[in-house]
Amino acid sequence: MRGFEELDVKGRRVLVRADLNVPLDGETITDDGRIRASIPTIRNLAGRGAMVIVCAHLGRPKGTPNPKYSLAPVAKRLAELLGEPVEFASDVVGESAQAAMAGLRDGQVALLENLRFEPGEESKDDAERALFAGRLAALADLYVGDGFGAVHRKHASVYDVPRLLPHAAGGLVLAEVEVLKRLTEDPARPYAVVLGGAKVSDKLGVIANLLTKVDRLLIGGGMAYTFLKAQGYEVGKSLLQEDKLGDVRGFLDEAAARGVELVLPVDVLAAEGFAADAAHEAVDATAIPADREGLDIGPRTRELFAAKLADAKTVFWNGPMGVFEFDAFSGGTRAVAEALIASDAFTVVGGGDSAAAVRRLGLPEDGFSHISTGGGASLEYLEGKTLPGLAALEDDQVES
Ligand code: 3PG
Repeated sequence: MRGFEELDVKGRRVLVRADLNVPLDGETITDDGRIRASIPTIRNLAGRGAMVIVCAHLGRPKGTPNPKYSLAPVAKRLAELLGEPVEFASDVVGESAQAAMAGLRDGQVALLENLRFEPGEESKDDAERALFAGRLAALADLYVGDGFGAVHRKHASVYDVPRLLPHAAGGLVLAEVEVLKRLTEDPARPYAVVLGGAKVSDKLGVIANLLTKVDRLLIGGGMAYTFLKAQGYEVGKSLLQEDKLGDVRGFLDEAAARGVELVLPVDVLAAEGFAADAAHEAVDATAIPADREGLDIGPRTRELFAAKLADAKTVFWNGPMGVFEFDAFSGGTRAVAEALIASDAFTVVGGGDSAAAVRRLGLPEDGFSHISTGGGASLEYLEGKTLPGLAALEDDQVES
């Protein structure tokens, strides 16, 4: 995969596909991690005299313009972080985008409106996607793929545009791929993975693949209750995916057969309801009362998980251990994050909610070897899938 430093960009129009999909509360960005992670590549290109046209998506507006998903607040933050003005186009490939592109001087930066306002961006129809990709590519001379969080999407800006323009991977994509290679190719052992989050159905593929690679798999969060149920325990009103019990039983058997240590919660915080101030107590994971729901791992599990991580040489963590957005149920997620910070291992936080939790809990980001900007993308990579955006960057061919 060619790196963006190899491109001769001076005086050229460079389309940068970034992942600026940040959480918003109204127009307020509640976590700007992805914007900050995109800055070095943009700054480097502008510093080398490129005319930089950034494109990105926000949320899932499904092919129609919708002010709720406008990138306008992101343009403002991008300009603040760059310390340079950012020209914001109010459409993606229309008159405003054309004008922004035409007005750029060497070293200047523009941001296009949300790519997903255009139906061609996510279309499953190759011809419709190609048509939109052609209009996007016409804005620039070169393409830099730097939206790591979106490389698992076969979308026009990720997959089709690099076939139309000379292209290279941006600094963020190069860094993320290097880390993921280290996790998959020859990880220092013991290699432990901590998985959490609400649904086991989102993680079936990655669990199946990790069971062939890791020494220890620690399971917390909402998905743990389907594992506990599969072991024959009642989980009260906790999250449960009955239809996945068969898959999970298969994982328990496979872990045993392969000698992978599969570590489940031994206690949980069982709450009277799903609320920040819900009455709750720590109970054994094998004795969750019928009228309670587990909203976090309990104190004994926090110690157990920390002990299982203490001597690991490689740790990957994806997914919160509980409802970390509620202070009373954030302790498990904090404990796992602190165990990673205390460890000498190569520690990777796998994007999405876990990265947001690290920042929300005020934990030092430099306490980890790497915090990924891609939740779904890093999981799919670890699942062993071919990611369309990386495949497109690896292919040096350009259609004439
Ligand atoms: C993400 O938030 O994981 C990426 O930006 C991809 O967004 P998507 O899941 O809506 O495609």
